[in-house]
Amino acid sequence: MDIRPEDPANLPTRRRVRLLNRDDRLYHVILAQQFDRELIDHLCRISEMTRIIADARAGARFLNTILSHKRAMLYFIQPSTRTYLSFAAACQVLGMPYNDVRDPSTSSEVKGESEEDTVRALSQYFDIVIMRHPSEGFAEQMANMLNGMSRTIPILNGGSGKDQHPTQAMLDIYTLYRCFAESLADRVRQDPERNLFAGKTIAFVGDLARGRTVRSLAYLLTRYPDVRLLFVAPESLQIGEDIVEYLDRSEVDYALKFDLPEVVGECDAVYMTRLQDEHDQKGESGKIDLSRFSLTRELEPMLKKDLAILHPLPRRQELDTFYDTDPRAKYWNQMRNGMWMRSALLAYVFNVDGAILDHYYSYYNF
Ligand code: CP
Repeated sequence: MDIRPEDPANLPTRRRVRLLNRDDRLYHVILAQQFDRELIDHLCRISEMTRIIADARAGARFLNTILSHKRAMLYFIQPSTRTYLSFAAACQVLGMPYNDVRDPSTSSEVKGESEEDTVRALSQYFDIVIMRHPSEGFAEQMANMLNGMSRTIPILNGGSGKDQHPTQAMLDIYTLYRCFAESLADRVRQDPERNLFAGKTIAFVGDLARGRTVRSLAYLLTRYPDVRLLFVAPESLQIGEDIVEYLDRSEVDYALKFDLPEVVGECDAVYMTRLQDEHDQKGESGKIDLSRFSLTRELEPMLKKDLAILHPLPRRQELDTFYDTDPRAKYWNQMRNGMWMRSALLAYVFNVDGAILDHYYSYYNF
C-alpha cells in the first residue's frame, strides 16, 4: 500500500510555491500563483519570438536542436484534445522526443501498481512529466514526492480536477496580449512599465464554480493593476470564495454579475465557458437555465467593435457558431497560441529560453 504525501493544499500558498520553485525559478509548474508579472511578460515575449523564429526553415532547425537531449512524458489520464496535442507539438518544435500514457489500463496499474509508483517509474525514463489528472491535488503531490527522490524531474500541470489549468491560463494571457497590443514591437518590447491590460474590462461567463481555466486565469490577472474583472454566472455556478478572497487581497477591481446581456456591451474581452457537468453528483446542473449566460447572435449589436471573444473549448451551446468567422473570435487563435506558449514554458523550465532570446536578437532585431 502506497502512502500519498500530505495534501500540500493545506499549506499557505507562499509555502506551496517555495516547494515548487528552485533558485528563484519555476521548477515544477503546478499553480498559477507561481507566476509573477515579470515572468508572464517574459514568457509572452518568448512565445512571440518562438513563433517568428519557427516561421523560417533555418529558425525551425535551430529550435529543433535546443531540447533534443531531453525526453518528455505526456501522462494524460483525463481526456484532452488541445492540451495534449499542443504540448506534443511544442515538444516537436523544440526537438524533444516524447511518449505518452493516456489510458492507465495499458500500464501496470492494472496489476495493482499505484499511481505514485507509476510516476516514480516515469521519472526514471523521462526528463519531464506533463500531467493531466482528474484529482485536484495530484500533480502537486507528485511534484513534492519527486522532490524527495534521488532523481527529481519537473512536473507540469496540464489540468488538475476542478482546481487549476495554469498553462491554459498562460496561453489565454498571451492571446489577450496579442489582442490588446497594437504592434509586434508592443508584443516583444521589454518594458516593465507597460500594462496592456490597464483600463480593460474582461468578463468570465458560464460555469465559474468548476471551471479550472477561469480560476487559473483569475490568479494571473491579479498581476495587472487597473484591469476590471466581471464574473457572470448563475448564483449556483459563481466563482469560488477562495478566488474572491484572493481578488480582495490583491485589490483587484471586480464584480459578480448574474446576466450577460446586462454587461456584454462594456466588455473588451469575454471568456466563455461550458457547463462542467462531468462534476455533477446527480445531474443537478441540468436544471440550470443558462440562456442569460450564452453569447447568442442576438447580442451581436451590443458588442464592442474590437471585442475579443475567448473560450478554452470544447464548447456547447453557450457560444453561437455564428461568431466562428467573425474577426473578434479569438478562440481559434488560442489553440495555436497554446503551442507557442507551451514551447516557451518548456524552454524556460529547461533554462534554454535565453537561447531563443539571443537567436531572436541576432536575426530579427530590426
Ligand atoms: N482547453 C483545454 O484544456 O482543452 P482540452 O481539454 O481539449 O485539452
